[in-house]
Amino acid sequence: MTTGYRPEWVQGAFVDFIGSRLHPFWSLKIPKLRFLARHQLSDDLIALQFETNYAFRQQAPDWQGGQYLNLSVLIDGTYHQRSYSLVGLPQQPLWWQNEIVNNKTNKNNQRHTVTIAIKPQGLVSDYLTKRMSLGTVINSSLPSGAFTLTQTPSVKLASALIKQESTVPLAFKKSTPLLFIAGGSGITPMLGLITQALKYGHQVTLLHYSRAVLLQNEWQQLAAIYPAFTYHLINTTDSNTYLVGTRYLSGHSLLALDLPLADTQIFACGSPALLAGLYNAATEISLPQNKQLRDNIIVEDFGNASSDFTSDQIHDKTAKQEAQTIYLRARQQQFSSDTTLLIAAEKAGIRLTHGCRQGICQLCRCRKISGVVKNIQTGKLSSDGNEFIQTCINIAMTDVVLDV
Ligand code: FES
Repeated sequence: MTTGYRPEWVQGAFVDFIGSRLHPFWSLKIPKLRFLARHQLSDDLIALQFETNYAFRQQAPDWQGGQYLNLSVLIDGTYHQRSYSLVGLPQQPLWWQNEIVNNKTNKNNQRHTVTIAIKPQGLVSDYLTKRMSLGTVINSSLPSGAFTLTQTPSVKLASALIKQESTVPLAFKKSTPLLFIAGGSGITPMLGLITQALKYGHQVTLLHYSRAVLLQNEWQQLAAIYPAFTYHLINTTDSNTYLVGTRYLSGHSLLALDLPLADTQIFACGSPALLAGLYNAATEISLPQNKQLRDNIIVEDFGNASSDFTSDQIHDKTAKQEAQTIYLRARQQQFSSDTTLLIAAEKAGIRLTHGCRQGICQLCRCRKISGVVKNIQTGKLSSDGNEFIQTCINIAMTDVVLDV
């Protein structure tokens, strides 16, 4: 009979336990980061550089541009978890490279560091950017998140081809044009994504809406190496930098980029206002063959690199819900839901209209005829009656009838 006893596992866990008591950074299994340095990127954006431990390096020797780390930070006796985008790619030289090379103490760490960038705007980000002492060790997830180039079919193909051949095939150089749109600190995941995209041979355009120039040297270096890279900084306080005379993102600004929009994949990261503006702009543009530009948009999972709210949290928050019956009156279909109405419908094989899936674009808005739902972003309960709701951010607290 199998007892489940695994001597090698017990031994490993025991060694890990003893090791972590001897030194908090040491672990064979738990990814940890040791805080090395802060770098001011702008008045309100601070980069933090960490050394990775053995467990991190073994389990994540590589990561994709656009991925993030979920950090577990102990503040005043309580653990808090937050997600922050990684800046750049493994081994990619960043702007403080010279400082590190000149500093013998840090020289050995140069190959094993990760960098995140944070806007101080809450308990955890304030602690990380202002109070955390150098040398502090924190637990981290491995790099995760789906805001990566692997969402672009041509890149999947490219990765496969590059593994097989040492040179990039000619055909691949004609692959999908990519448009990256960032607002303020939403620029942080873009450096890794864009560097990868350019290496794969894509035509890349970056639109950055910001009051400060961020990562300027990096963009200039990439533009010098890759003629297929175009960078527009729209400084919201300088009208000389505006696209088509406006500081706002609009259908006209997208058209002014002169890209084949029907075939362009758009990656966006920024404030809810910027993302809502993008979805509005997309509706102003007509594409051939009934294509919708909104279908080409991929947004960062949690809207902003330093958001407190991730899709994992959505899952956690809804995991313990009791299943309720959702009836779609116009379609005469019903399904059972213990998560957001949108996800539950999809699990049941029913496609509902949606866009961002984060409560921003309003494309999933529909009329509820009856039943109580709860907004998982605000925690607010609806009335029992007739009103509009967004299916991507509401869960059913009772049986619900939708006018869909
Ligand atoms: S899908 Fe965008 S608000 Fe729901």
